[in-house]
Amino acid sequence: MLQYSKTGQKILDPFCGSGTTLLEALLNGRDAVGVDMNNIAVKISLAKTFIPDIRELDCIFDEIIEDFTTLTEYTTVSFPDKEVWYTKDVSEVIDKLFFLISKIKSNDYRNVFEVLLSSILKTVSNKRSIWNNGYIADNVLPNKKYTGDALKVFRNKYYALKKSYIELVSALPNRVGNVSIQLSNIIDYSPNEQFDLVITSPPYPFAVDFVKYNRLVYYWFGWDVNKKSEEETGSRTKRNRSNAVEDFFNEMELVYKHIFSLVKEGGYFCMTVADTHRNKSKVSFVEWLYRIFCENGWNLVADDIRQLECQSMAQKRIQYEHKLVFKKM
Ligand SMILES: C[S@@+](CC[C@H](N)C(=O)[O-])C[C@H]1O[C@@H](n2cnc3c(N)ncnc32)[C@H](O)[C@@H]1O
Repeated sequence: MLQYSKTGQKILDPFCGSGTTLLEALLNGRDAVGVDMNNIAVKISLAKTFIPDIRELDCIFDEIIEDFTTLTEYTTVSFPDKEVWYTKDVSEVIDKLFFLISKIKSNDYRNVFEVLLSSILKTVSNKRSIWNNGYIADNVLPNKKYTGDALKVFRNKYYALKKSYIELVSALPNRVGNVSIQLSNIIDYSPNEQFDLVITSPPYPFAVDFVKYNRLVYYWFGWDVNKKSEEETGSRTKRNRSNAVEDFFNEMELVYKHIFSLVKEGGYFCMTVADTHRNKSKVSFVEWLYRIFCENGWNLVADDIRQLECQSMAQKRIQYEHKLVFKKM
């Protein structure tokens, strides 16, 4: 970020996810826009780049916990198979917390607590253990009962969150970057001005489906999992067809050409990417990127390769990560 941009220049992360680039922009005094079509990604990015007053945060948390014990009337969320996904006790805890959080007046603080609650929804569900970190399958229901204390998990998550916010506040520079975040498919995002730098980790062919990964969060918030998943570039819903690889790249080409139009001449595009696999054969995303950038007037400036050590289930077959930098000529 510091190498390829100057203070006052504008950065875009077209697939901002949980907001890593945006947080760096904030801390490095850069102005940045993050775009993502996933509702929870946008909420996480907003929470990650929010600078709270820690005392205010504590007050809201204490109030939630205090009101929780006396709360008798509250609205409940309903979605298919809720009683299969959650025990009665856990559902009651989440419904109560959702209700109390919905009463927080400030949008920013309410968003923080919604994100906090969303972060425990998988942990306290009756999920199968193989779903701990990964994708939750479409047609398979959970087979284990969660026996922990959901309120305690929420509390502990709050303490961890508060610690991160204290660290964030103490790391703030004199000039904090301006960050804005948009919930949009990047293809529909057409701002008036162009950007100096794009920094992103884009969707990979045949890697993670972020909407379905967050299926339970979508249920609780009443967002449409299937509709959103269809919108996600490269999502699993498009993979079973015989021409899935071609479809992915055709879709990606449109998306990349649109992002290219958002960057100034002389601007940079930095990303972390990797080759993936489908049906045991390699899908060369990196080579495809070289070609697509080259055909559209970009030059490769750097390709730093590193071997990945710690691999999650979803990434198991991704061995090398490339840090690619292109310049728009
Ligand atoms: C690899 S992740 C980004 C990870 C991010 N760097 C982080 O730190 O969390 C890719 C992101 O692209 C988003 N995405 C996929 N298709 C999109 C589209 N067409 N428009 C906008 N966002 C999209 C997904 O929702 C996901 O959050």
